[in-house]
Amino acid sequence: MSFQAPKGTFDWMPPRSELALAVRDAMSAPVRRAGYGYVETPTFEDTALFARGVGESTDIVSKEMYTFEDKGGRSITLRPEGTASTVRAVLQHGLQNGPLPAKVWYSGSFFRYERAQKGRYRHFSQVGAEALGVEDPALDAELIQLAAEGFASLGLTGVRLLLNSLGCAACRPAYRAALQDFLRALDLDDATRARVELNPLRVLDDKRPEVRAQLGGAPLVTDHLCEACKGYHEEVRSLLTDAGVAFADDPRLVRGLDYYTRTTFEFVHDGLGSQSAVGGGGRYDGLSEMIGGPPLPGVGWAIGVDRTVLALEAEGLAAPRSSGGVQVYGVALGDEARRLLFSLLIELRRAGVTADMAFGGKGLKGAMKGADRSGATYAVIIGERDLAAGAAQVKDLASGEQAAVPLAEIVTTLKERLTQ
Ligand code: HAM
Repeated sequence: MSFQAPKGTFDWMPPRSELALAVRDAMSAPVRRAGYGYVETPTFEDTALFARGVGESTDIVSKEMYTFEDKGGRSITLRPEGTASTVRAVLQHGLQNGPLPAKVWYSGSFFRYERAQKGRYRHFSQVGAEALGVEDPALDAELIQLAAEGFASLGLTGVRLLLNSLGCAACRPAYRAALQDFLRALDLDDATRARVELNPLRVLDDKRPEVRAQLGGAPLVTDHLCEACKGYHEEVRSLLTDAGVAFADDPRLVRGLDYYTRTTFEFVHDGLGSQSAVGGGGRYDGLSEMIGGPPLPGVGWAIGVDRTVLALEAEGLAAPRSSGGVQVYGVALGDEARRLLFSLLIELRRAGVTADMAFGGKGLKGAMKGADRSGATYAVIIGERDLAAGAAQVKDLASGEQAAVPLAEIVTTLKERLTQ
C-alpha cells in the first residue's frame, strides 16, 4: 500500500498552493509596514509552556496536544499556537528591556489533535502578530485594523469582525462567579457541569442546541466590566470606527485559550460551514506572568491560512492560475543548442522573466507539448539551423506566430514583449 498524508493533514500542491503563499503575503504585508519584525521559534517547546500559558482547562491543552517524551526524557509538545512561544522568546531575548512595544510577527505550522473536518486540521498554518510591553487601546486597534487590511487586500468581502472585552483581573472574578451561579441552575450533563466549575466562559460557546436554548438569560461580561475596562473598550471601539473598520459587538464571544484579558476578537466568514473563524486574537496581559516572566502586557492575533484559502474559494476569488507559472518555455534540439538554452534561461530569469525548459531529451513534438502545457506565453526554440545562424525561434504560443530573433537580442526582446 502506498503512503497517504496522515489523518487530519493534507498537502498543498500547485497550483492551489499559490493561494497559501498569497494569503501569507497578504496578511504579513500590513504588519511589516507597521514595524513588526519577523520571528521564528521552534516548532516544539517544553510541554509546560503551553500547559501554563494556554491553560490546563482548555480543550487545546487537555485533549489536543501532540505531546511526547524525547530521547532525553523531556516532555515536548508540537506547538498548538504561537502566542506562548512568542512571549517565551521575547522574554528569553530580553526584548522587554528594549523599546516598547516589542512588535513581532510569525508564520508557520501548528498542530492540534482535533476531530478532522473541512477547515479543521491536525496540521495547519497561521500568520500571527503580537505587540508586547504596552497597554494602549491604540495598539489593540492597530492590530485589528492590520488584520482587516490584510483580508481586504485579498479581495475578501465576506469577513466579519466580532469584538468583545473579557475584563481584567479586577472585574473578571465577579463576572465568573455570576455566570457560574446562572449555569449551576441549568439542566446540564455531567461533563458540562464540570466545565462550569473549571472554565465557565467556555460553556457560553457550547454549540449544542439543548445547551444554547438555556443560555438566553446568561449574564454578559460587558455588563460586569470595571470602569477601567469599560473605558479601554470604548476607546478601542471608537478608534476602529474612526479607522473605518466595521465590527459587531459580541458579548458572548469567548476564546478557546485561557490567557485573554480585555479586548478579544474573531474574524469570521460565513462561507466555511461550521469552522467559521478565519482568525482571532486579543489582549493577554497576564500571560507573561503565567509562564514565569515579569508583568508584560500583550495583544495580538493569528489568522488561519488554510481557512482563509477556503474563504477565497467560497468567494470565487481563487481560480487557480492555469499557467504553471512561467512566461517562457525553452526547447532545444541537440546538445549544443541545449547548453546554449540552459545559459539563456539563466539570463532570462536574472532579467525577471520566469522561464522553464523541456528536460529529459524529448523530441521536438514532445517538447512542444510541454510548452503548451506550461501555459507559457512564448516558446524559445533553438534548432541546429538556428545555432548556425546565431538566432532562436520565438513562438507566440497563443497565435502560433513565429520569428527568428538574434540570440544577443532574445532577453531584451522577450522582456519588452512581455511587459507590453
Ligand atoms: P486560535 O483562535 O486558536 O488563536 O487560532 C487562530 C486561527 O487559526 C483560527 O481562527 C483558525 O482560523 C486557525 N485555526 C485554529 N485551529 C485550526 C485547525 N485545527 N485547523 C485549521 N485552522 C485552525 C490562537 O491560536 C491565538 N494564538 C491567537 C492569538 C495571537 N491571540 C493573541 N495573539
